[in-house]
Amino acid sequence: MDAAPDAVPACADDGTWLACIECGETFAPFEDVRYTCDHCDGLLEVRYADLPTFDDFGAGASTDGPDRGVWRYREALPFDLGVTLPEGDTPLHRVPRIEEIVGVDGLRIKHEGMNPSGSFKDRGMTVGVRVAQELDVDALACASTGNTSAALATYGGRAGMPTLVLLPQGKVAAGKIAQASLHGARILEVDGNFDDCLDIVQELAARGVVYLLNSLNPFRLEGQKTIGFEILEQCYADYGRFPDRIVLPVGNAGNTSAIYKGFRELVQSGALDVAEVPKLTGVQAEGAAPMVEAVTEGNDEISRWEHVETRATAIRIGNPVNAPKALPGVHNTGGTAVAVSDNEITAAQAHLATEGVGVEPASAASLAGLKKLRRQGRVDDDELVVCLTTGHLLKDPEAAYKAGGDPEPVPNDADAILEQISD
Ligand code: F0G
Repeated sequence: MDAAPDAVPACADDGTWLACIECGETFAPFEDVRYTCDHCDGLLEVRYADLPTFDDFGAGASTDGPDRGVWRYREALPFDLGVTLPEGDTPLHRVPRIEEIVGVDGLRIKHEGMNPSGSFKDRGMTVGVRVAQELDVDALACASTGNTSAALATYGGRAGMPTLVLLPQGKVAAGKIAQASLHGARILEVDGNFDDCLDIVQELAARGVVYLLNSLNPFRLEGQKTIGFEILEQCYADYGRFPDRIVLPVGNAGNTSAIYKGFRELVQSGALDVAEVPKLTGVQAEGAAPMVEAVTEGNDEISRWEHVETRATAIRIGNPVNAPKALPGVHNTGGTAVAVSDNEITAAQAHLATEGVGVEPASAASLAGLKKLRRQGRVDDDELVVCLTTGHLLKDPEAAYKAGGDPEPVPNDADAILEQISD
């Protein structure tokens, strides 16, 4: 984690380049469209000549750019501003009643559902669509369990670019399809699961038909790493220290990879001690838990699960493509991973709702995972923990409705209603 920063290669453009995480090969960032290494097909990562310190965040805000949100962190990003609505600057909710029941020193909920399209994906898209403009591509595309497609449609629409989304038929929550539809994406429903959709869209991208904006795209993760920066700054402002642990739902493992990368950059710049890096703790649904399997068994790679099922459709994923970036993040921060049942997810969703925090099922996996880890004695009671909630309640109205109480039909009469509510 604290390896010395790389020497700047000749291919760098204004101090930015791409590097393969497997073989180290470097590439110019904006000359050609590229998602993986030409030589070994490894995942690519964006690298910088200058790594950020906390003092760089919001630098020159009044004149040069925003003081809040994703672009506050422009010194750590490939551009100073992107296609913005704006995104980021999400609340870090206090949840005192849940905190007491979970029994930790501090528990905060970082509610990424408060982004413009209702999920953390907006942070990635504000950067990713800016890069698409730089590369002068004609059309944007993604495979999605729903939120990525909603965010891509939103940001692609704002940029005036045509957008294609591939969704697993019958497995995407209504709110997300509604967003993709209204924002003008062309929606293809594939007779397969998310992993099949991603295989296909990668092929379309390889054939040059579309620009891929799944989290395989290294630039998207740049935007998402700002979640980690914001958590550190918000916790420091409130507690005078950084959190011990960040618990987050895992699907394709893009977010885990992104947050880890941001922390590594702060360590490499000398802004953060290795010992201060929060333990990255991933949570998956029991029916779709290849990352948990790899972490539990101590494997360096994940094995693809062909059959996946969970009520938390956003994380119904059997082949987390970012695992080679995310697994070191979990290992090197001293984190872990845990699987939770659908009923545990729904219970956590309802519990968060009692504190006014409305999230979709996948998001509640983080709290469900924390509760389980506390029961198992794998999280200490003196920890300051941040649970990431990744998407808004209204993304999946059906799940919310099922988790809550039923409306009661009443007569059109005040006395009859009074009688009914006095029961
Ligand atoms: N939570 C929500 C609400 C999500 O939509 C996703 C991923 C995740 C967590 C997992 O994040 O993939 O970075 O580990 N949704 C993607 C999509 C796959 O298509 O919307 P990850």
